[in-house]
Amino acid sequence: MHYFIANWKAEKNLNDCYEWVKTFSVQAMKYNNSNIQIIICPPIAFLTSIKSYLLSSIPSIKFGAQDLSKFDNGKYTGETTAQMLKDLVDYVIIGHSERRTNHNETDNHVKLKVEQAYQHGIKSIVCISETTQIIPSKTNMIAFEPLSAIASGNNYPVDSIIEFKKGLNLPSTINFLYGGSVNKKNIDSYLQNQEIDGFLIGTASLDPHDFFSLLP
Ligand code: PGA
Repeated sequence: MHYFIANWKAEKNLNDCYEWVKTFSVQAMKYNNSNIQIIICPPIAFLTSIKSYLLSSIPSIKFGAQDLSKFDNGKYTGETTAQMLKDLVDYVIIGHSERRTNHNETDNHVKLKVEQAYQHGIKSIVCISETTQIIPSKTNMIAFEPLSAIASGNNYPVDSIIEFKKGLNLPSTINFLYGGSVNKKNIDSYLQNQEIDGFLIGTASLDPHDFFSLLP
C-alpha cells in the first residue's frame, strides 16, 4: 500500500477547492488501484463542503486535517479539537515544520497532539526533519521532510531517505513517508523502493492534474 497525502496548506479559497475536486473527480473516477490510498488534507474550513462531493465520486478517498489542538474540548477560543475532528477525518498531520517554525511548536506540543488524536481515534502523521525529534508512542505515520527539500524543487535522493529511516529504528507498525518536492519527475524513484510507504505532497498536490499524474 502506498499513501498519497495532499497537503494543501493555506493555499486555497473555497472556490479553488471546488474547482480542484470537480477536475480531480472526473479523472479519479476512472482510476482503480487498491494498493493506493489517497488522503486529502484541505484547509479545515472547507473540509465538509468538499468531502461529500469527493466521496460521491471516489468512495475510497480519505481525509485529513493539517493540525489539531493540543487541548480537548473546553474554553479554548479558536481551537479545533480532536473531538471536533473525529467525525470528519481519519488522519491528522502533526508537527509540520511550518508549524514548528511559525507557531513555535515543540516536541512536547507534538506529543500532546498525538495523544489527543489517539484518544479520539484519528491516525497521526508526525512530520520530522531530524532523527533527534521525538516520535510519540501513539504515532501512526512518520513523514520525513528535510527542510531544504520542502517546496524548493530540491527533493531528497532515495538513498539519503533510507539512511535517515535506518537511524530512526521505527517499529514495523509505523508507516514511513517522505515529503519534500515530490513531483512527476521524481516519484518513480521513490515508488520503486519498498522502504517508503507513501508521500506527503504540497506543491504538486495543488493542481488536480499534477496530483493525479503522480499516482501509479
Ligand atoms: P512540497 O511540500 O511538496 O511543496 O515540498 C511538502 C510539505 O510541506 O508537506
